[in-house]
Amino acid sequence: MKRLLILGSTGSIGKQALAVVRAHPQDFQVVGLSGHRQAKLLAAQAQEFGLDDRQVATDGEGIARLVQGARADVVLNALVGYAGLTPSLLALRAGADLAIANKESLVVGGELLLKQASPGQLLPVDSEHSAIWQCLQGEDRASVRTLWITCSGGAFRGWTRAQLAQATAAQALRHPTWQMGAKITIDSATLMNKGFEVIEAHHLFQVPYERIKVVLHPQSVVHSAVEFADGAIKAQLGSPDMRLPIAYALYQGKRLPLSEYPGSDQVTQLDLTRLGDLQFGPIDCATFACFELAVAAGRSGGTMPCVLNAAGEAANLAFREGRLDFLGIEQVVRSALTAHRRADLSSLEQLDQVDAWARAFAEEEIARLA
Ligand SMILES: NC(=O)c1ccc[n+]([C@@H]2O[C@H](COP(=O)([O-])OP(=O)(O)OC[C@H]3O[C@@H](n4cnc5c(N)ncnc54)[C@H](OP(=O)(O)O)[C@@H]3O)[C@@H](O)[C@H]2O)c1
Repeated sequence: MKRLLILGSTGSIGKQALAVVRAHPQDFQVVGLSGHRQAKLLAAQAQEFGLDDRQVATDGEGIARLVQGARADVVLNALVGYAGLTPSLLALRAGADLAIANKESLVVGGELLLKQASPGQLLPVDSEHSAIWQCLQGEDRASVRTLWITCSGGAFRGWTRAQLAQATAAQALRHPTWQMGAKITIDSATLMNKGFEVIEAHHLFQVPYERIKVVLHPQSVVHSAVEFADGAIKAQLGSPDMRLPIAYALYQGKRLPLSEYPGSDQVTQLDLTRLGDLQFGPIDCATFACFELAVAAGRSGGTMPCVLNAAGEAANLAFREGRLDFLGIEQVVRSALTAHRRADLSSLEQLDQVDAWARAFAEEEIARLA
């Protein structure tokens, strides 16, 4: 039985992780949970899993205490945003395996996390990275030529810049294939999320940027693929259901029989005879500028991804709150990246400072554009 700590248990990934645990109580002991604003839900989860007040947290300090004191075998980091970075580092330092849904940790502090992690300690949760991880099983890493990350295109696939100028948050929050938290759903609509995933893949699989490609695939059935030296491409297909990659991470790459989820909410089995057409094509980088801003920041490295993320978080929230237009998001992020003077990455404290600077800068830009 594994001792499991779930950070962000009240969120989309956190709740689905608890569904996996509920279905397999013999395999996991939940030793801690964290939420933020949803106090009632967190209390109900704590009661269900028999946790007292010392085993739940709602803020950064409490989460740090929990990670350092829980003696967890596995920490699932399902926090959203920069708030996830310190807990990721602490979990690795505590020697726990880190199932990492919080992609912002890797985007901002990938270099720090990779220095801290021992081989196999980082377990991908994002569906694309889980797919790549699955494709790499049994393969010689030296034979990997290209990682292919699939992209649904988000809520505004096919829209023009003129249409995007009028886009509302309610429209952006209607993702065609995935039910996710608000922040990542907006990031999917701007394609910022896909840029983040390229950076995430670069760190997780130690593949250079020029060998990571993104392909549009609206059906979200092929979750990603790996191309090898002989030209063969291995892809992973499955239902767009995050419980599958979550379970694959929590079981460290072991497969569970499909089913066994409580209630009627079963994982749907893919039937290849009914799939119909699967489409693939290039993504529209000219219309969705955040993608290239993100990849350029990732390639530049150092403190640039931190600025990208912090300005992106501020702009994403401002858009959801009606303080910024959809196209304003890329404008704010671009301005922050242009204004920042890149430095090599040295410490968490440095990142805290850069993050604070970029958020303040972004808020000024948002006010100026209003
Ligand atoms: N959802 C998906 O399908 C999906 C897929 C791939 C990757 N991811 C990644 O997984 C992470 C979580 O995404 P999500 O969609 O599950 O997000 P979400 O639904 O918004 O959940 C975020 C969780 O973090 C907590 N939280 C928010 N701000 C916090 C703060 N400042 N300090 C401490 N806790 C905080 C929330 O607590 P309250 O709700 O109680 O406020 C909630 O438990 C993100 O990095 C996302 O990119 C998600």
